[in-house]
Amino acid sequence: LLLVLDFGGQYKELIARTVRSHSVYSEIWPGHTSAEKIRELNPIGIILTGGPHSVYLPDSPKCDPGIFKLGIPILGICYGMQLMCHMLGGTVEACEKSEYGRVKARLKTCSPLFRDIPEQNTVLMSHTDLVSKLPDGFVAIAETDHCSHAACENPAQKLYGVQFHPEVEHTDNGRRIIGNFLFDVCGAKGDYHLDDYIETQIQKIREKVGDQKVLLALSGGVDSSVCASLLSKAIPGQLTCIFVDHGFMRYKEGDEIERVFSAMDLNFIRVNAEDRFLAKLKGVTAPEQKRKLIGEEFIRVFEEEAAKLGDIPFLAQGTIYPDVIESGGKLGATIKSHHNVGGLPEKLAFKEIIEPLSGLFKDEVRVLGRKLGLPTSLTERQPFPGPGLAIRVLGEVTREKLEIVRLADHIMCEEIGKLRRKPEQYFAVYTGAYSVGVKGDDRTYDSVIALRAVHTSDFMTCEYAPLSHKVLSRIASRITREIPSVSRVVYDITSKPPATVEWE
Ligand code: XMP
Repeated sequence: LLLVLDFGGQYKELIARTVRSHSVYSEIWPGHTSAEKIRELNPIGIILTGGPHSVYLPDSPKCDPGIFKLGIPILGICYGMQLMCHMLGGTVEACEKSEYGRVKARLKTCSPLFRDIPEQNTVLMSHTDLVSKLPDGFVAIAETDHCSHAACENPAQKLYGVQFHPEVEHTDNGRRIIGNFLFDVCGAKGDYHLDDYIETQIQKIREKVGDQKVLLALSGGVDSSVCASLLSKAIPGQLTCIFVDHGFMRYKEGDEIERVFSAMDLNFIRVNAEDRFLAKLKGVTAPEQKRKLIGEEFIRVFEEEAAKLGDIPFLAQGTIYPDVIESGGKLGATIKSHHNVGGLPEKLAFKEIIEPLSGLFKDEVRVLGRKLGLPTSLTERQPFPGPGLAIRVLGEVTREKLEIVRLADHIMCEEIGKLRRKPEQYFAVYTGAYSVGVKGDDRTYDSVIALRAVHTSDFMTCEYAPLSHKVLSRIASRITREIPSVSRVVYDITSKPPATVEWE
């Protein structure tokens, strides 16, 4: 175990994932975790993350000073380095000139941290404070034009610090620097593998569940699909999956989900509830109200189906590690909103919640899914909002509009699917606008479809994808040719912010 202590840095997950990419298991814990608890956890090393604070201000987050006496190797990154230096008697102050972006650093390659890394190395800096005086026992092992202590070490105590961010791609050899810390300083074995994760989870699930039954709300998203597949391997025949098809899925998506899961050793129930959902949404045009009504109806359908099954003691959920981190490290504390369609109701009384993916990052969940034999159509699935196409039809949702947007989306996906580099998310929107067109000799007055495609790493912000005009015009001509009721196709070139990814 490599412990990542979190001081509010935006890259904490990236650090933990980079560590795991070296086959070393990592967990993120709060920055204030006590030295005693850490001794109990017995990690091979600790990484202190960056963070937005100034360490010399009274209310900035601190760590237990005892952690520096545990004899466990520590790497402080950015705020983490400043914190370590500050707490060990060094001085941290505001930079005369803040450093942002990629800068040249000169590294002392005699340090184990920089083994096999060029002396001149480009690193990502992002700081307004710096360590102006190192604590006793520390020496500088890197410098930049504006920062003479760009990295430091106290090899006797196995304490290391870098002012720059080795966890991001913009730092050349950053992954290797973290690897050097893990293998050369912490003596990591690099023996963490997902296959072991599968085996351990299968054992755990069997022990917990015995011969009892488990229920899962299957959305067809990556997490719930992998969860279902893992459970069907662990406790064949004891799992029931309820897939509420609200009628807002993409082209043939519901059928694909049914095909894959009906073939597994589980009780798969598909509830075709399109009529119910459409009836609920009749006349409703406000986006938030649409989302709310869909969420409520989802719960109702799920409850009705679950009630038919009698008493099932366990509820399984596809909670993943970032969900756990977000909720402050508590598992099963809240029932995860089912693919954000809406939370499952508390009155659904389950004896226990099972969350077998709660130790994994999304990329690991995808790999696990492939190892379990799920098709890439499920493991590489794009994010898809719980309310589905209902929020990609602006205004009132009808069967006809859904059919149009579903086909347009399918055409777009087919064409983009042919590209080598695909945007992270892309889809079609039924705008609700009408425009004049001409087909043959006839004047038409038909629907306008918008195309949306974005590049993003976190979906919190995104840039519109600069798809080539050739690709765009191929999609537009196919849509207008193959869907008679569409007269015009437009491309959304707004980034987020100010726009959101979805239109509603
Ligand atoms: P926005 O539109 O907020 O979307 O910029 C950011 C990302 O979240 C997805 N999204 C949702 N995902 N339930 C989900 O599970 C939802 O209700 C929902 N709304 C938006 C969106 O597709 C994008 O990837």
